[in-house]
Amino acid sequence: MSESDRQYDLVVWGATGVAGRLVAEYLAGRYSPGELSLALGGRNESRLRDVESELVAESDWEEIPLVLGDATDPETLGDLARNTRVVCTTVGPYTRYGSPLVEACIEAGTDYCDLTGEINWIRETVDRYHDEAVAAETRIVHSCGFDSVPADLGTLLVQSFAREEFGAPCDLARIYVEDTRGGVSGGTLASFGELFEAASEDPIVRQTLRNPYSLAPPGERDGVDPGAQRLPRRDRLRGAWTAPSPMAPVNERIVRRSNALLGYPYGREFRCSEAVTTGPGLGGAAIASTAAAGFGLFAAGMAIDPVREGLQRFVFPDPGEGPSDRQIENGRFTVRVRGRGTGPDGQFTVESVIGAERDPGYGATARMLGEAGMCLVRGETESPLDGGILTPASGIGDPLADRLRDAGFTVSVEETAE
Ligand SMILES: NC(=O)c1ccc[n+]([C@@H]2O[C@H](COP(=O)([O-])OP(=O)(O)OC[C@H]3O[C@@H](n4cnc5c(N)ncnc54)[C@H](OP(=O)(O)O)[C@@H]3O)[C@@H](O)[C@H]2O)c1
Repeated sequence: MSESDRQYDLVVWGATGVAGRLVAEYLAGRYSPGELSLALGGRNESRLRDVESELVAESDWEEIPLVLGDATDPETLGDLARNTRVVCTTVGPYTRYGSPLVEACIEAGTDYCDLTGEINWIRETVDRYHDEAVAAETRIVHSCGFDSVPADLGTLLVQSFAREEFGAPCDLARIYVEDTRGGVSGGTLASFGELFEAASEDPIVRQTLRNPYSLAPPGERDGVDPGAQRLPRRDRLRGAWTAPSPMAPVNERIVRRSNALLGYPYGREFRCSEAVTTGPGLGGAAIASTAAAGFGLFAAGMAIDPVREGLQRFVFPDPGEGPSDRQIENGRFTVRVRGRGTGPDGQFTVESVIGAERDPGYGATARMLGEAGMCLVRGETESPLDGGILTPASGIGDPLADRLRDAGFTVSVEETAE
């Protein structure tokens, strides 16, 4: 079947979940039926119908087709993949549900994007499917939400600017998560729990979490970068205090994978690390110390089986529950990437900013995944790679930054003073 014979341009797979519903709502609100052949996918027909009715009531769409299937049933996934050009999937935890869909998409030559932040699962897909996806010229683009679009694209913007304006890439990039307000869903916490559970059972997963280069291609899994910040730190490049970031383990590894897949345009000696900016002076130091202690305690608790199980049963929201509409509307985020390099004329500093006036993990994430899917539908990619287990920067690149700008995000890059 040729690409143009496919019934749909894009299926939102998991459209009944917290994130999937927002992706579907965003796409149906932003694109008309004449611009996009959209379908909603999931396992529960009546819940899908409810989502469809709501979207139809709020948009120009008279109907949106439904695609039924189950993430554990390869046959339905094969049908899903063969009938669409692109799948945007929010069915997680990906460690539990993700692999059969990746397999089906590669087999059907269907481009794919997701929201995973589960490093162990990304490593599994890299090892199991990268070569097949390259051979099938199929783009499997992981981590197209708040994990890891701002960090990965922000670093790409900094490095492209540095190479063009100063003739050299930055050998250091610091990723700062700032001014962020948002909520968290049961599905995200379940995926987080899945990662800790896998780490408690499997030494390879623990190794993957320890090695800063664990998502690089085989044979390239070491280098000079010591990896994540673990303590509060006064950051000279930012001129403020910073605390460890909970998203650093995935975002930093995704950035390093992008560098490797693109052929090391950031250099082999490139180092990157992500932190949460807490502010200047004693106040910034106090917040950084409290945040670092809180994060450390949470991670330590999640690593202990009974504590993790107790949190999941009695404290965390259930899968399917998420932030309120108000929290999503009132959320916001800024991710600043500062790179420092040395060119023929001396040292320079470049800064990119990606931000939005929406809850980062849901309202903004829905736009990031939706627009990543649109780039794949329209073939808008600025990448030398036609296929593989890819990242936002290596699988799509600048066109995603352009689409996010059009969707109301702040996206900028410029020289800055240190
Ligand atoms: N990268 C980021 O920044 C970011 C942000 C937000 C979320 N996420 C990730 O996105 C994922 C989804 O989060 P969420 O909060 O939307 O979770 P959720 O509300 O629990 O939604 C999960 C979806 O998966 C569907 N599903 C579960 N089992 C299935 C099966 N066997 N077959 C078909 N569909 C199945 C659910 O369908 P039912 O409705 O029928 O149960 C639901 O549509 C999580 O892994 C989360 O970590 C990432």
